[in-house]
Amino acid sequence: MDKHFVWLDCDTGTDDAAAILCANGLPELEIVGISAVAGNVELEKTYRNALRLNRLMGTDYPVYQGAEKPWRKELETGYRYHGENGLGGVELPLPERYPEVTEKAWDALYRAAVRYEGALELIATGPLTNVATALVKYPDLKKYLARIVIMGGSAGAGNRTPAAEYNIYADPDAASAVFQAGIPLVMCGLDVTMKAYFMEEDLLAVKAGGTTVGRLFHDSLQAPLQTQHGTGVKLHDVVAVMYAARPDMFDGKMAGVRVETRGGCTNGKTVTDLYSDKKFPDKNVFVVLDIDHARFVREVSELLLSYRDLE
Ligand code: RIB
Ligand code: CA
Repeated sequence: MDKHFVWLDCDTGTDDAAAILCANGLPELEIVGISAVAGNVELEKTYRNALRLNRLMGTDYPVYQGAEKPWRKELETGYRYHGENGLGGVELPLPERYPEVTEKAWDALYRAAVRYEGALELIATGPLTNVATALVKYPDLKKYLARIVIMGGSAGAGNRTPAAEYNIYADPDAASAVFQAGIPLVMCGLDVTMKAYFMEEDLLAVKAGGTTVGRLFHDSLQAPLQTQHGTGVKLHDVVAVMYAARPDMFDGKMAGVRVETRGGCTNGKTVTDLYSDKKFPDKNVFVVLDIDHARFVREVSELLLSYRDLE
């Protein structure tokens, strides 16, 4: 089995939490570090939520704080879907002790990338502010990152506006910098993540395991579930993690992709040339388009049911 050394950059909200739980459980992945970015909720909350998951998983992954706001725009949080605490109102304790880390996310990411000599992969499931800041501060970072797998964007419709998906919309300038960086990039956009749904019975089956992980998974996703008109809750961020570990569960195509950063109603749109006669000069992104849904539900459920309560 190929082992992937990964860094998770998250705006830990409900599906980011599920993604971290899956990443920790996947034997194909070894988490090197976790960084928090403002997005679904404010930075302080996304940071503490990542720490809370360390306690829940019984791990002590280093967790770093990154950007409190997007490069140019004001922060637009997602309380409606993630609750004010980012975990859908589910309360988890912080670790009893954790280091007061002052090193910023982008500095820690660069240090890890150099240490892993080009083997480190970045999985980003929130706005790309931290990633882009790292690329600007350390222009040679592109030599040390094997690839970037993001949850973000869409070749079709948006979910924050009719045109744009939230992670890109939240910081389109940062996203554009990442898409143009020349690092191998995999885009797990709404095209595939809208197909990565769990129905209430699937959530209940995980909760039936009787663990705190199962309760967090089910209970934290109730608000987004209720907004999906019976089509199930979409585990957007889990797709990026599962792709990084088990890409044969998915299908996609290389395409030219650009990010609109100055549009009015199109600001934050990922413009792809997948379906147009006119093509961009380069195919810079692997756009994930399809998923083996039954396998996704089965294997994500297995990963979450493998946890046992530690306290
Ligand atoms: O559009 C879905 C994305 O926005 C996910 O990453 C979710 O956590 C929110 O950040
Ligand atoms: Ca997210």
